[in-house]
Amino acid sequence: MCSPMAPPASLAYKVVRYVYVSFLLTFSLSSHLPCSAVYSISYSEPLFHNQTLLSPSHVFELGFFTPLGTSNQYVGMWYKDPTLTRVVWVANRDLPLRSTDRFASLTIGSDGNLRLLDGDQNTVWSTNVSAKLSNGHTAVLLDSGNLVLNDGDMGTSIWESFDHPTDTQLAEMKIGINVKTGEKRYLRSWKTDTDPSPGMFSLGLTVEVPTQPFIWNGSTRHWRGGQWDQSKFIGVSTMDGRYLNGYTVQQDIQKGETYFSYQLPKSYIGYLFISHQGSVEFQLWNSALGNWIRVWGEPNDPCDVYGTCGPFGICRTVSGSPTCDCIKGFAPKSEERWKNGIWTGGCIRKDQLDCGAGTTASTDYFWKVSQLKLPDRSIYLPDVSTNANCQSWCLINCSCIAYSFVDGIGCMVWSGELMDIQGFNGAGEDLFLRLAHMKRDVHKKIIVSLTTIASILIFGASMCAIGRWRSDKTGRNRPVKGCLLNKNFIWNRDLYR
Ligand SMILES: *[C@@H]1O[C@H](CO)[C@@H](O)[C@H](O)[C@H]1NC(C)=O
Ligand SMILES: *[C@@H]1O[C@H](CO)[C@@H](O)[C@H](O)[C@H]1NC(C)=O
Ligand SMILES: *[C@@H]1O[C@H](CO)[C@@H](O)[C@H](O)[C@H]1NC(C)=O
Ligand SMILES: *[C@@H]1O[C@H](CO)[C@@H](O)[C@H](O)[C@H]1NC(C)=O
Repeated sequence: MCSPMAPPASLAYKVVRYVYVSFLLTFSLSSHLPCSAVYSISYSEPLFHNQTLLSPSHVFELGFFTPLGTSNQYVGMWYKDPTLTRVVWVANRDLPLRSTDRFASLTIGSDGNLRLLDGDQNTVWSTNVSAKLSNGHTAVLLDSGNLVLNDGDMGTSIWESFDHPTDTQLAEMKIGINVKTGEKRYLRSWKTDTDPSPGMFSLGLTVEVPTQPFIWNGSTRHWRGGQWDQSKFIGVSTMDGRYLNGYTVQQDIQKGETYFSYQLPKSYIGYLFISHQGSVEFQLWNSALGNWIRVWGEPNDPCDVYGTCGPFGICRTVSGSPTCDCIKGFAPKSEERWKNGIWTGGCIRKDQLDCGAGTTASTDYFWKVSQLKLPDRSIYLPDVSTNANCQSWCLINCSCIAYSFVDGIGCMVWSGELMDIQGFNGAGEDLFLRLAHMKRDVHKKIIVSLTTIASILIFGASMCAIGRWRSDKTGRNRPVKGCLLNKNFIWNRDLYR
């Protein structure tokens, strides 16, 4: 008997089938190939609504699905294992078919492009490669979860779903940007759990050195992952390579490229995705427990949200709530608003820096703050190779207001505003803040102390002088008790003789 494999039995998705299989049937057929599964799509052999495209080792499956409670139908990709309910890619995410359309097909058009046709043979979605007319093109699904359109003559790939991610990054897939070609290969969230059309949030990388990952809410920065230190992003305190073969950032400034990817050890199943609520999650399948485990995810707490405390503010989470402080040397821009928990205005400098006052020999000094998520908009100095040189570079340049020297990165300096600083517990980096030296205060204190001492001396001397005058009157030549400086007094008295 001919029957399809079980669909991903998720609450949110239902794979559209003609034949709804029973659990028993699913179970008994799971080691056999269903005859409705195919391994390639071609001009003459399209994928119909009652079929799925399988990867060679049955890791991934591609087919038609309808999110529960909707009347939209999509072509998507999910894990073949029905317990791993997860759609990882959607072709026509903003161009749905009607769920009632039983005659839709995914085919190769006469121009060689992969096309999704509705029941009336209208193109709903298609790839856009300029290939010469070819009937040899085939589309296959790889075990990595990459849908590949191959040129029939050359056998080379001319289009890949990995280059057109939706909300999920699979292992080996590259997320990033090319500023020269203008390509932005970002993850874009679904609108809701059951609506794959593009939502508010996107996840991508900046082209700066070192690069940083961001979640944007529309065009607003929502979350920042911090600078890349060759093994992780230093603003993600929970990100480590424990479960992974590694995270990779490839950056080629000449080509204008910055890409992030990761590998998984063999037999591991995992993915990184951006949720429709705007969080990035890294999930691994735990076969023993039979569920997905969130290895790390951000934003985790309110302090992870970009710029919670405004410029020069530092955010710490205290029992679940964000608490803002100004960094040393700064005070709230508006005390009133700050007291009311409106922090985004941030802080302003209390004491002007010496450097800015036009003096050449700066008396500014650096104050170390540890365990921080370093601020945004760092300037990387590739030629400065030691902490000491980083400090002296910063000291002699008046526009430099902070520096940090980080393992795996090197010297970074900041000018302008220090934005999005967070206090970590046990993780994080040291930031050295340029502050006005307390020189003036010290002078003031010395002057005050000198005045005090002088007053006491004068007072003491007066008392003693009076004492001397009295002792002279009584005719007895002895030091007067209560004089602060008896010896001096005696000496003075001797002088007067
Ligand atoms: C699948 O659908 C196509 C087109 O709708 C139809 O020609 C074919 O017979 C169907 N196959 C099965 C196994 O139901
Ligand atoms: C297809 O590609 C061409 C050139 O590469 C471009 O001009 C056109 O806008 C693209 N069409 C779509 C629908 O993306
Ligand atoms: C995203 O932006 C929209 C519109 O600016 C806003 O209403 C919403 O609260 C933001 N979401 C988050 C999670 O910040
Ligand atoms: C001083 O630092 C700023 C940025 O902090 C930089 O743009 C500028 O070129 C530096 N000036 C010198 C003389 O190095």
